[in-house]
Amino acid sequence: MLEVKDLNVFYGVIHAVKGINFNVPDGKIVTLIGANGAGKSSTLKAIIGLVRPKGEILFKGKEISKMPAHLIARSGIALVPEGRRVFVNLTILENLRMGGFNKELHELEPLYEKMFELFPILKERAYQKAGTLSGGEQQMLAIARALMSEPELLMLDEPSLGLAPLIVAEVFDILKELNKQGRTILLVEQNAAQALKLADYGYVLENGTIALEGEASGLLENDEVRKRYLGED
Ligand SMILES: Nc1ncnc2c1ncn2[C@@H]1O[C@H](COP(=O)(O)OP(=O)(O)OP(=O)(O)O)[C@@H](O)[C@H]1O
Ligand SMILES: [Mg+2]
Repeated sequence: MLEVKDLNVFYGVIHAVKGINFNVPDGKIVTLIGANGAGKSSTLKAIIGLVRPKGEILFKGKEISKMPAHLIARSGIALVPEGRRVFVNLTILENLRMGGFNKELHELEPLYEKMFELFPILKERAYQKAGTLSGGEQQMLAIARALMSEPELLMLDEPSLGLAPLIVAEVFDILKELNKQGRTILLVEQNAAQALKLADYGYVLENGTIALEGEASGLLENDEVRKRYLGED
C-alpha cells in the first residue's frame, strides 16, 4: 500500500531522515521504532505532506511526495499526530466533524455512530469541549477524528506518549481491532515493547537511518533491540 524509497528530510542544514526505505503492505501493521530525534515524526510528516521530502513515496502505486497535504489526506491517508493535537476549544462532536472533512453531510451521522461504538466514552462526552478530556480520552478522540475520513492507511505518531500502562493497553487493543477490520496501520513508537507485540513488521530508526528491520516477533527477540529499546542488559 505504501512504498517509501530513499526518503530524505532536511530542515535547513539538518539532515533528519537520511535515505530510508520501507514498505507498509495492505492489511498489515508496520511499526517504526526509535529514540528521541531519530526522525520518526519527520518521516510521517513527509508522507502526509507537512514537510517536503526528497525521494519517492508511493501510495497505492501513485507518487505522492510532491502532492499538497490536503490532496494526500483525500487520497486515503490519515495521521494521528504526536501529542494528539485535538481542538481543545471544540466539542468532541465538532472534532469528529473536522476529521470528516471529505464527507457529505448525510455520511457524517453513521460515522459518528461508528466512532461512538468504538469509543463509548466519546458518546457520553459528545458535547463537552475536547480540552476537558483526560489524556487517554484525548488520544481516543484523536484516533476517532483520523478515522472519520475513512483512511485506507492510518498513521499514528507515538499514541502511547504520556499515558498510563492500562490506557496504553486499551489504545493498542483498539488498533488491533481496527486492523482486524482491515485497516492498514503505520505506527511510530518509542514504546518498542508494546509496538512490536502489536505489529507484523518493524523498522528500527537511528539517527535518520534504518538500523534494523524484520518480523516484529523476531525484533522482540533480537539482543540489540532488547538492550537498546527494551531496557534489558
Ligand atoms: N522543524 C524543524 N526544524 C529543525 N529541525 C527539526 C525540525 N523538526 C525536527 N527537527 C530535527 O530533526 C530530527 C528528527 O526529529 P523528529 O521529530 O523527526 O524525531 P522523532 O524521532 O520524532 O523524535 P521524538 O521521539 O522526540 O518525537 C531532530 O534532530 C530534530 O531536532
Ligand atoms: Mg516525534
